[in-house]
Amino acid sequence: MPVAGMDIGSLSTEVVILDQEHKHIIAAVILPTGASSKTAINRAMEEALRQSGLSFAQLERIVATGYGRVSVPFIHEKVTEITCHGRGAYHLDPSVRTVIDIGGQDSKVICLNAQGKVVDFLMNEKCAAGTGRFLEVMCQALEVDLNDFSRLAAQTNKTVPISSMCTVFAESEVVSLIAEGYPREQIIRGIIASIVERTELMANRIGIVGKVMMTGGVAKNRAVVEALQEKLGVKIIVPQEPQVVGALGAALLAAEM
Ligand SMILES: Nc1ncnc2c1ncn2[C@@H]1O[C@H](COP(=O)(O)OP(=O)(O)OP(=O)(O)O)[C@@H](O)[C@H]1O
Ligand SMILES: [Mg+2]
Repeated sequence: MPVAGMDIGSLSTEVVILDQEHKHIIAAVILPTGASSKTAINRAMEEALRQSGLSFAQLERIVATGYGRVSVPFIHEKVTEITCHGRGAYHLDPSVRTVIDIGGQDSKVICLNAQGKVVDFLMNEKCAAGTGRFLEVMCQALEVDLNDFSRLAAQTNKTVPISSMCTVFAESEVVSLIAEGYPREQIIRGIIASIVERTELMANRIGIVGKVMMTGGVAKNRAVVEALQEKLGVKIIVPQEPQVVGALGAALLAAEM
């Protein structure tokens, strides 16, 4: 019977449904989590069922991950994000040994062995700096659409460094830089450099081995991925839909249980 995986993150909620044989994705939904994770969970599941043409009763098992997994009333199992991102990434490319997940409120570096088992990980969940939320706050301060971020960053090779590590202080620093007349393209590169630096610190502590895959919403930010590749000196592969990798991992684990 078909199975489902859900990833209820701080900013987005995903549902992935695998077919009868657990081989193909027959639904993949991404919705904003918004103020009520319960509402997002129900809406995302309804949409995934609609996409797959299934009824809720036809789902054999549902596994949830993400910080909001405790809010899902109808799931069978809860699994950590580390395990789910690792499982999803390994499924998409079994030669991946390092997974970098940058989401809305935390970032993680996960090491996998040749069998796809998590052998080590590091997580930064203390503050929004170095995460998608940080990028969103900075975009607001700069009055720039997140979708234009990569294009604008490519327009210059000068970078205005952002010295504050904290999101709140970095935001006022960016506001001051705008007032001082620095071009926003250069400030954007400074913001990217700040995220990259945070990730590099984690990557160096854990030690990057083998092929690297990036998951989570920030992997959709080309400028961040490119800057990270350059800083770490490794090629980073980004799956077609990096934001659903956690939910895919949850669905695969549901299939294996
Ligand atoms: N199309 C896009 N282009 C660029 N960046 C994007 C895009 N879509 C999402 N993002 C980035 O992804 C971030 C959200 O990532 P994601 O959906 O993985 O977070 P989450 O899983 O809800 O958070 P967490 O796992 O920390 O609880 C946004 O803050 C934004 O920076
Ligand atoms: Mg997430």
